[in-house]
Amino acid sequence: MNLPSINPTTTESWNKLQAHFSEINEVHMMDLFEEDIKRVDKMNLSWKEFQVDFSKNRITDKTISLLLELAEEVGLKEAIELQFEGSKINQTEDRAVLHTALRDFDSMKPEVKKALQKMKKTSNAVIKGTWKGFTGKPITDIVNIGIGGSELGPKMVTNALKYYGNGLKIHYISNVDGDHVAETLKKLNRETTLFIIVSKSFTTQETMTNANAIKNWFLQEATQLDIEKHFIAVSTNESTIIDFGISKYNVFPIWDWVGGRFSLWSSVGLSTCCAIGYDNFEELLRGAHEMDLHFRNEDFSENIPVILALLSVWYNNFFSSETEAIIPYTQYLEDFVPYLQQAIMESNGKSVDRNGTAINYQTGTVVWGNVGANAQHAFFQLLHQGTKLVPVDFIGFSESLHQHKKQHEILKANFFSQSEALLQGTYKQNAPNEFRFFNGNKPSNTIFINSLTPKNLGSLIAIYEHKIFVQGIIWNIFSYDQWGVELGKKLTNQLLSNS
Ligand code: F6P
Repeated sequence: MNLPSINPTTTESWNKLQAHFSEINEVHMMDLFEEDIKRVDKMNLSWKEFQVDFSKNRITDKTISLLLELAEEVGLKEAIELQFEGSKINQTEDRAVLHTALRDFDSMKPEVKKALQKMKKTSNAVIKGTWKGFTGKPITDIVNIGIGGSELGPKMVTNALKYYGNGLKIHYISNVDGDHVAETLKKLNRETTLFIIVSKSFTTQETMTNANAIKNWFLQEATQLDIEKHFIAVSTNESTIIDFGISKYNVFPIWDWVGGRFSLWSSVGLSTCCAIGYDNFEELLRGAHEMDLHFRNEDFSENIPVILALLSVWYNNFFSSETEAIIPYTQYLEDFVPYLQQAIMESNGKSVDRNGTAINYQTGTVVWGNVGANAQHAFFQLLHQGTKLVPVDFIGFSESLHQHKKQHEILKANFFSQSEALLQGTYKQNAPNEFRFFNGNKPSNTIFINSLTPKNLGSLIAIYEHKIFVQGIIWNIFSYDQWGVELGKKLTNQLLSNS
């Protein structure tokens, strides 16, 4: 069955939201807080180890109920079911979208179970040192060769969960710029390095170029037969892998119902699994599955991904905000924004609707950001006093993983004070002069989590995955294809064949 296809701007709720926007646009959030002392309690979602405070948004109860009406009118409930049931909702590629099936241990597909068992066996062997290189030495370094979804997700998670690492050194090579390969190889010993080539298609130019360059480097001191001890492939394209020289026992599957940017939960995450061990990897999956259940079953008014998505639509389509910032307050989430940039912008950067008609309203937001507190000393000036309205997601953790208590207190104080400053500005205060005037009234969400565990990270990532889906449904676009990246690839190949 196909996804519903409703132009959101033709719905009743959209028209009501438009009228409502002109009421809200002039209102300062500080007045809304004064008028409604229950605002913080009402606009707060508490779920397991997550607290999501969305009270600092330019909304009232009416805004939320109109946005919820919009979700109903565009058929969101039905769309969620179609996705989870495995309908081919990625219509333009004739594929189902089932990354959620990769983490559903209650009714796991046999092939997914089998792949996870293989990941467990392989990662255990590498971690315990029973996987030996061609001279009999254990593996010390793993290199993931892949780009886009075949790098950004695993790299983000491996770095985010570094605390749970076991000492194996993990490297990621993506760019076709030879500097990336050359600099990484300088640090490596052929005898103790395992290369994981990750490419769903096994034809991606950057990945195959890097893989061949690395194979040649490896063969300078090893033989063709040694490849099986040092090269693994994750792909759907088995025959090309065998041609590359990789043993069929070292091939890990991925399926066409898993999109590249949603694939970190599959064998694409093998580098992560080796870095943190299988048990932690499984926890990551379980955390994501818990969020899947919340998303699928919870009432929309209490549903974290749905509420976050609706707020983002509110700013994008009514306030004409072009961008949104994401600021995680932990160095461990340094790679979270680049990962989300692909997930969000490759999914929702579309201008044709699900009927094939050109769109005359805004779709995918531009996402940017960096870790706090660093970001405060870089671009926060623009957030506080610039002319653009940039909604912000602040992500923070109650407990740190380290023992430096004082530092964590300072970090948390920064985390809370920034959203407060964006809200308040110099409201009802006399700014010393016009240059020190802050209007405030700048929206933000705070996602406050107990601590950065594999499980909580899984849930956090799943929140954003589902937020992407909800927005795509509202904007009436296909979120799971990426035809827009093809033309550039074709022109590159034309240039190369002409040169
Ligand atoms: O060019 C975009 C893209 O197709 C992404 O969607 C994907 O994650 C990336 O390329 C890598 O593709 P592959 O895993 O097939 O090498």
